[in-house]
Amino acid sequence: MEVRIANLGKVFRRPGGEAFIALEQIDLVCAEGEIVSLIGPSGCGKTTLLNIVAGLTEPSTGTVEVAGRPVTGPGPERGVIFQQYALFPWMTVRDNVEFGLRVRGDRSRSERTAVVDQHLEMVGLRAFADALPKELSGGMKQRCAIARAYAVEPVMLLMDEPFGAVDALTRVSLQHQLLETWEKKRTTIIFVTHDVDEAVFLSHRVVVMGKNPGRINTIIETDLPRPRTQELRLSPDFVSLRAAVWREVHEPAPELVSSRDTSI
Ligand SMILES: Nc1ncnc2c1ncn2[C@@H]1O[C@H](COP(=O)(O)OP(=O)(O)OP(=O)(O)O)[C@@H](O)[C@H]1O
Ligand SMILES: [Mg+2]
Repeated sequence: MEVRIANLGKVFRRPGGEAFIALEQIDLVCAEGEIVSLIGPSGCGKTTLLNIVAGLTEPSTGTVEVAGRPVTGPGPERGVIFQQYALFPWMTVRDNVEFGLRVRGDRSRSERTAVVDQHLEMVGLRAFADALPKELSGGMKQRCAIARAYAVEPVMLLMDEPFGAVDALTRVSLQHQLLETWEKKRTTIIFVTHDVDEAVFLSHRVVVMGKNPGRINTIIETDLPRPRTQELRLSPDFVSLRAAVWREVHEPAPELVSSRDTSI
């Protein structure tokens, strides 16, 4: 599904009544089946932008269209993985992963169980199927949220730092699983990350954002061959793309740095 973001802006009212420009003049088109990463300093509006595409936050100006239709609220075709896992605390891991399938109601009980088992296996949580979220580590909760989003096979995935809390080895394995799944389904993916390696490895394009106000600084194409393999991470092309993105993220042009807030 194509995503078309045009002239998008978001202003929040701070408690004192002061207006805060979280996003300004965002123009971005994600092609059907494209993986686009958003990277940039904390507070540059990545989550806000993702939530607007998800239909959970209303923009102040501009429009978002998904597959040619304006976004007016959340929809089952857009799977969201939140920065804060957002699991149902009273449900077991299995029930959390099954939730979306049950809501959709188009599969028998045994089919649902098979899909849930397959996805729990994928994220290494089979042994914790009957545990409650509070019994899981942060990384395990995140893997549970990933299994839940994948289980309904959305045609579009909006992922907010989905691998942020998992250990380095699991993270690499989840990146590979994401791309393996993508090779089969060609899901359109918008992927928020702070990790330059991850952005370059996964994406077709990396969108580097800046803050005060939140905006797009530059977009870097990562035209590396697919399917992407472990060895690719060591290739000169990968290393130079990673350096290019790193420079954009860490060395913004001086005139773009606001004196109001320079924290990362
Ligand atoms: N509901 C809200 N009310 C007021 N301000 C908000 C609200 N949500 C976000 N903001 C502000 O908008 C800015 C962007 O927030 P956002 O969460 O989108 O950043 P982010 O790029 O996802 O940061 P991080 O990398 O830390 O997750 C921040 O300055 C934040 O304080
Ligand atoms: Mg965020």
